[in-house]
Amino acid sequence: MGYLQECVGIESRYRRNRTAWASHLEESRQLMLEAAGQCDTRDTVLIFGAGLLHDIPLADLLGMFRRVILADILFMAPARRAAEREQRLELVTLDVTASLTSLAEGKTELTQPTAYLDDPSISLVISASILSQLFVVPNAYLEKHFGQGDAESEVLGQALVRAHLAYLGAFECPVALIADETHIIRDRSGAETATASALHDVPLPLGGRSWDWDICPLGEIDRDHAVMHRVRGYQDFPKT
Ligand SMILES: C[S@@+](CC[C@H](N)C(=O)[O-])C[C@H]1O[C@@H](n2cnc3c(N)ncnc32)[C@H](O)[C@@H]1O
Repeated sequence: MGYLQECVGIESRYRRNRTAWASHLEESRQLMLEAAGQCDTRDTVLIFGAGLLHDIPLADLLGMFRRVILADILFMAPARRAAEREQRLELVTLDVTASLTSLAEGKTELTQPTAYLDDPSISLVISASILSQLFVVPNAYLEKHFGQGDAESEVLGQALVRAHLAYLGAFECPVALIADETHIIRDRSGAETATASALHDVPLPLGGRSWDWDICPLGEIDRDHAVMHRVRGYQDFPKT
């Protein structure tokens, strides 16, 4: 559906903007470690969206938990090599939406994910900058292959975001969430010229803390505009 291309694109953007991304990646790692530090049990940490490994404090988590499971739709070479070196690290190819098979056929009714909900060994779940990505490839694919319009993309985007939040809310163990919340465009002077929800206007609950991710500094998209993502992170995502 375009996932490999998307991952390769993220990886090259990371390589071009490593310095600009550093503080965001450090904030993310710090939040994950705080969440890990507060767990009552330290059996298995399950991380959604860790295929690129940029923001995952893997060595620290392996030191704190018996087992680390990285779940993603695909894995790049660094994750594969890490798993070859460390038996306690498992890579699981998983569609966290549980809906891609039907979406690929143009069917937009979603299935609610249930993977690992009944696994008592899971001590902590981390959703690692995946929430605002869940609809990107499906919507691009459905627009291209099934003529899906903007309004339908909005509805599907909202449904995928809500379904992931409901999925996280269904875990009994603590859950940490890191998610892009807002896209902000700035001009050369640093003034905000436009903002838009990164989540199709689905609100995140109150709480957590937020920081800015300098995802596309000046020059990445064009010479006059930079894109920031305002990110919100919860070390203990409130379940309703
Ligand atoms: C922006 S990246 C997250 C950054 C990541 N935490 C890292 O390692 O730097 C989004 C990740 O979500 C994954 N992803 C997107 N949709 C997915 C799905 N339906 N199921 C599982 N993983 C998915 C992508 O493959 C990608 O690795």
